Amino acid sequence: MSADPERILVIIPAAGSGTRFGGDVPKQFLPLGGKPLVQRVVERFLFDDKVTRIVVPVLDMLLSAVKTSPGDRVQFVAGGATRLQSVTRGLEAALDEIGDEINGEIDIVAIHDAVRPFFSLDTFHATLDAARTHGAAFPGIPLPDTVHQIADDAIASTLDRRVLVAAQTPQCFRVDVLRDILERAAAENADATDEAGLAAKYGHRVQLVTGDSMNFKITRPEDLVMAERIYAEWGGEGDA
Ligand code: CTP
Ligand code: MG
Repeated sequence: MSADPERILVIIPAAGSGTRFGGDVPKQFLPLGGKPLVQRVVERFLFDDKVTRIVVPVLDMLLSAVKTSPGDRVQFVAGGATRLQSVTRGLEAALDEIGDEINGEIDIVAIHDAVRPFFSLDTFHATLDAARTHGAAFPGIPLPDTVHQIADDAIASTLDRRVLVAAQTPQCFRVDVLRDILERAAAENADATDEAGLAAKYGHRVQLVTGDSMNFKITRPEDLVMAERIYAEWGGEGDA
């Protein structure tokens, strides 16, 4: 075992178009407490000195609007047509740059949605720990509602809620595990809405860590309304 400090890369995919949210501006650039959501998320990770580097895949056309200098802990890259492609481009860019620049390696990669502003650093650290031990880990929460499978606008069957969780981020992976699943997905042209599910599909153990109901994803306009209320109530606590 090396005594070197662990190198942690955070990828924050922010290249989506927010079709469920709607509107002219992709939701990750809408303000929460006066700052774009993606900026809030980046700043919270920057605040954590465990994080070696942050890479943010964004829409191609926005690349010119976001500038960083060599040596910055944050790097913006062009995302892809799917979330998985955005993550893949983020990982490739970071590994290329790190190889050149500081001749180091990444040990663990965390992937976090640009639109989950209320993640907790405690949950992040617990997920990192679990990924170090098991290879991959994700925060999940039990479902409050009963879930039915639907066919032809009617219930076809009822799922057992006790064995279901809703997946959140940050999802964490040893870099070898993440590279393996991204390569296999690319070879098969497979897509997935989260990397944890993909890792499980390819036979990796993906450890469940207790998530947090505050860490909801801003998917529709009402989620942002709720986020603004929560933010106002917290009085901007946690601002970097
Ligand atoms: N994402 C990305 N690249 C894509 C698609 C999604 O980087 N091609 C990112 C989004 O910007 C977001 C995260 O993945 O930070 C979670 O995705 P989601 O909430 O589904 O966002 P969108 O895909 O933008 O929204 P929708 O599915 O409603 O279109
Ligand atoms: Mg999406």
